[in-house]
Amino acid sequence: MKNRSLVSINDFSKKEQLHILELAAEFEKKPTQKILEDFVVATLFFEPSTRTRLSFETAVNRLGGKIIGFSDASSTSVKKGESLKDTIKTVANYSDLIVMRHPVEGSARFASEVSQVPIINAGDGANQHPTQTLLDMYTIKQTQGKLDNLHIAFVGDLKYGRTVHSLVIALTNFNCTFHLVSPFELKLPSAVKMHIKEKKLEYYQYTSMEEVIDKVDILYMTRIQRERFSDPMEYEKIKNSYVLRNEMLNNTKKNLKILHPLPRVNEIDEDVDENSKAYYFQQALNGVFVRQALITTILGLKK
Ligand code: CP
Repeated sequence: MKNRSLVSINDFSKKEQLHILELAAEFEKKPTQKILEDFVVATLFFEPSTRTRLSFETAVNRLGGKIIGFSDASSTSVKKGESLKDTIKTVANYSDLIVMRHPVEGSARFASEVSQVPIINAGDGANQHPTQTLLDMYTIKQTQGKLDNLHIAFVGDLKYGRTVHSLVIALTNFNCTFHLVSPFELKLPSAVKMHIKEKKLEYYQYTSMEEVIDKVDILYMTRIQRERFSDPMEYEKIKNSYVLRNEMLNNTKKNLKILHPLPRVNEIDEDVDENSKAYYFQQALNGVFVRQALITTILGLKK
């Protein structure tokens, strides 16, 4: 994986993905390892972020590396009209690895084609979020002891939810059954469903969460992505489609864990947070270990 970009989850094979998870477990045991002292990592965030940017930066800091970058492109020469190509070629002169989030689908692939250093896609529009997928896989394995043969419900905005797209694609390697819960307008795109069909796996579509909540091992909640709607009235109509409340968990499976890439808006009531099945804050913590594994592998510091 040395010097390779990670733009789509399938850029890394199943074997390579599992290797990152194994390495992440080592970083979880020993997160502070000063092996990145001679390296500079750039974080270029053209879209807002809390977890992804800060967990990447925590990962680099715990490894003793240096961080450059921005969390708001309006303070950069993009504001003067500089192109993405010129921005990437310039930052690649200053750094060993670029982590980029951008609102345009395909922008990370484009960046990887013009950059002299590897690119890690931290989310490109509604397309993919592969590092979130690796931390989701890590969390599923941590809580279920395995990734294979699980029943997983994805709830909410399956159309624009990039974390859903890349996680569904990754889990098609593990014989999972997919329960897809969304409003009619926000169904999982056909291009993503195609990956499930190609592997001849089962998927079911629902509009109500209650139909499926008692059957699954993982309940992967997502927020309705207001920023992707061109018509604000459409968003207003469906923004409260799903709200998970504590009492809804009474008859769920013992091993159920509730995941959410976060941020949440109102789709998980705060009273769920104290339930032992809620696992979304631990999930966010796992992002540090998985990103440490990814950075050190791509920079050739870990094999
Ligand atoms: N999960 C995730 O991408 O969160 P942020 O938008 O806060 O980075």
